[in-house]
Amino acid sequence: MLENRHIVVGICGGIAAFKAAGLVSQLRQRGADVHCIMTEHAAKLVTPITFGELSGNDVTVDMFANINKWDVEHIALAKLADLFVVAPATADIIGKVANGIADDMLSTTIMATKAKVLFVPSMNTNMYENPIVQENIERLKKFGYEFVEPESGHLACNTTGKGRFPKLETIFDAIEKCLYGKGLLKGKKIIISAGGTQENIDPVRYISNRSSGRMGYAIARAAAMEDADVTLVSCTTALPVPAGVNIIYVHDARELDKAMNSCFDTCDAAVMAAAVSDYRPKVQATQKIKKEAHDSLTIELTQNPDILFGLGQKKKNQFLVGFAAETNDVIEHGKEKLKRKNLDMLVANDVAMPGAGFNVPTNIASLLYKDGTMEQYPKMTKEELGHIIVEKIAEGLR
Ligand code: CTP
Repeated sequence: MLENRHIVVGICGGIAAFKAAGLVSQLRQRGADVHCIMTEHAAKLVTPITFGELSGNDVTVDMFANINKWDVEHIALAKLADLFVVAPATADIIGKVANGIADDMLSTTIMATKAKVLFVPSMNTNMYENPIVQENIERLKKFGYEFVEPESGHLACNTTGKGRFPKLETIFDAIEKCLYGKGLLKGKKIIISAGGTQENIDPVRYISNRSSGRMGYAIARAAAMEDADVTLVSCTTALPVPAGVNIIYVHDARELDKAMNSCFDTCDAAVMAAAVSDYRPKVQATQKIKKEAHDSLTIELTQNPDILFGLGQKKKNQFLVGFAAETNDVIEHGKEKLKRKNLDMLVANDVAMPGAGFNVPTNIASLLYKDGTMEQYPKMTKEELGHIIVEKIAEGLR
């Protein structure tokens, strides 16, 4: 995915500098040509040899160290870069770039590059929340610099708060957005549901289904990459939240219904990728059901709301997308669902086919449209299908 891409990684003197080693290693494993520039402070925390070994290229720290070679290194790397990633980005480098200061190898190269620059701030919470730092970040964003939000949690200074170095997956989502995003959904709001609802029987047991949530998460990731304002309503907590996506966790169909409806009126597109339980136990026991009290047990079920149908009824200009998981007569059932639920597009899959449907990394889909047209796709990863679905939504919103 990063083959033939030249990525320059700037490493600053924050305690998370050691985590940049994992980032550099992963970038190289994913095919990128990686060049590292370290600040002098960073080189006191982790040795340049580490980054040299992991990147497979010389590491630059001192602007004047290679004076004999004299190919004006900061200009060479600034030109070479397809993307610049500053990780960890300290308050110092953010302040320097925001104010046009170029006084070492890293700041001069950032100033000289025309490539996108992605900052990954990581620092003590008070530093991060300092209004001067926040103002510098806002200023840089206005100039088109990109940022990955730090995570909240335990920090090296033995406090808890915002400022942690993000998960590598989150950084890679942002890297992909910088390299491949076309801004197809810029200014658009999209809500996506994912995963299988869990309908409580009692406080420890529930009825659910085999949905992993991967398809909905892939659509959310693809939509965020295309610059949409994405809200993901998730029935699962098992998957990493894609970078820049707002998350709402829900448990059962009624919570999902409430969350989708609360966002629907102001959105431009909605995708119901969740596998919703059509039924829930009529009575949910408040205490754990004990087997001593029952030789046999019958659980009476009552119907859940059809959330997608409800959204179809109230839709105005929203582009509404549903899924149909079928085991037979896929297209006929799909066409009928598209019409009955008043959808703009339906993703139909034959879950009986190997490599399609629940809990597998791939899918085999047909896209059916309101005007009666359809497109059939071969087996592909859910990530690939997510991008196609997002492109079709963008076309539909044009
Ligand atoms: N869906 C929903 N609310 C439900 C059931 C399904 O919003 N109570 C949505 C799903 O998220 C999916 C679409 O409706 O986008 C179709 O789901 P599917 O289970 O295939 O169809 P059903 O409408 O439940 O019909 P049936 O089970 O009878 O095939």
